Amino acid sequence: MQEGQSAQRYLSGRGLSDEVIKTYGIGYAPAGWEALKQHLSERGIGEPVQVEYGLLIHREDTGRTYDRFRDRVMFPIRDLRGRTIAFGGRVMGDDQPKYLNSPETPVFHKGRELYGLYEARQASSKLEQLVMVEGYMDVVALAQYGIHNAVATLGTATTEDHLTRLFRLVSRVVFCFDGDRAGRQAASRALETALPQMIDGREARFLFLPEGDDPDTLVRREGTQAFQDRVTCAMPLSEFLFEQAAQGRDLNTVEGRERFASQVLEALNKVPEGMLKSLLLESLAKRSGLAQEQLKVLLEKRVQASQRSITKSDASQAQAEQDEPESASSAPGAVLAASARSSRSRSQALSPVGRIVQLLLHEPNLVASLPDHLEWLPDDDDAPLCRELVELLKAGRYRSPQVVLAHFQGSQQGQALAAFAKRELLIPKADREAELQGLVEHLQYVQRQRSPKRSTRRCWRRSALGKSWIRSSVSVWQVW
Ligand code: UTP
Ligand code: MN
Repeated sequence: MQEGQSAQRYLSGRGLSDEVIKTYGIGYAPAGWEALKQHLSERGIGEPVQVEYGLLIHREDTGRTYDRFRDRVMFPIRDLRGRTIAFGGRVMGDDQPKYLNSPETPVFHKGRELYGLYEARQASSKLEQLVMVEGYMDVVALAQYGIHNAVATLGTATTEDHLTRLFRLVSRVVFCFDGDRAGRQAASRALETALPQMIDGREARFLFLPEGDDPDTLVRREGTQAFQDRVTCAMPLSEFLFEQAAQGRDLNTVEGRERFASQVLEALNKVPEGMLKSLLLESLAKRSGLAQEQLKVLLEKRVQASQRSITKSDASQAQAEQDEPESASSAPGAVLAASARSSRSRSQALSPVGRIVQLLLHEPNLVASLPDHLEWLPDDDDAPLCRELVELLKAGRYRSPQVVLAHFQGSQQGQALAAFAKRELLIPKADREAELQGLVEHLQYVQRQRSPKRSTRRCWRRSALGKSWIRSSVSVWQVW
């Protein structure tokens, strides 16, 4: 077809062979607004179906529908049986976005699928390892150079689902990252995701590319063997973990070693019981100078503390979901909705007192705007912590969350506060005092209204004011 010529030129300009173009089914979506729509409609596929599967865009305001992918080089994304379930489309010029991906649909979930997995399995019936790269072009270029075991996430970070899938097929996954800061950050996130997956027999490695390169440019410049050597020499997970924990710390000082050991223990907490965990512990003992037995005790304490906090947050999350029945949908393809729901209920799971604690922790100065007495404080789970925090802040001159956290470090309250500190505030500084005062006034109001028998929490959730508080806070948090 005439129309496809620009795409053919583009692809050969990027050095892709006809063979690899065919293997990966790379194609072209013509310019114009209705090419695919007409093609599919002629074959009896209704517009609503095309919209549902992300091929057509439906504009609410005009009611018009038109092709999502126009004048782009198309990469089909296939499931493990080779059925095309979505697309990635690349512009040939400098337009934005560079890549357009199918949206979440009943058959396509970004957080699960990996580009190139089907083709990798086709190329070899006994895969031993898979190389995770960032882009479509990386997968395809590596394949052209005979490296058929690369897969890519689809414009998202690596998820646990991705790893579960990969480790079902192979025992070793090599993550490939750019050598720059962003690459290192992506690698830390991948490490976090990988830790809980590391049962014995599985292996994860980290490969950092030279700055300015991606696998596509590197394999073309250095060739197959050199790239494969890099993969072979990729950094083991343990080494990356220790390197991360040591970064920016002086291990010649006691304090540096303490922070180092704490960070490694925090990671170890996520690793399933097994040989890897024992070996990491042994290695940590050597590197930190702490006795292994002592580390084990510390680790055990962490496990217990995190179990406590998990049980607690599960309970409040369950409560939040109970209170919001309309969110209990289980429609097919509701992955996006589900993740939106869980982040929403995470924010809602904060009681007003919890929110006050969070505000005070991030902004200790705000304590000055609280009333002198705390009789408005309801008798809920977060109240003792709130009381203690307020008293401490009033007595001392704590000006930063770090100092407050340091005060509580090692205690149960410390754990709870650390969890609050991790939640970002998401509202501008200027509005925080007003929010705090609004919360206090609300609690004072609730207290005046409260009948003695009902529990405060339920009462707050049911009260009209409580509801509007949820709504306004949620919208504020979303906006910021
Ligand atoms: P990159 O911007 O690193 O592009 O995006 P690339 O893979 O090197 O692509 P080429 O070589 O310029 O063609 C990496 C991946 O991030 C996702 C895509 O999955 C892409 O392959 N991405 C990137 C998007 O989803 N949208 C974008 O606009 C850009
Ligand atoms: Mn590239």
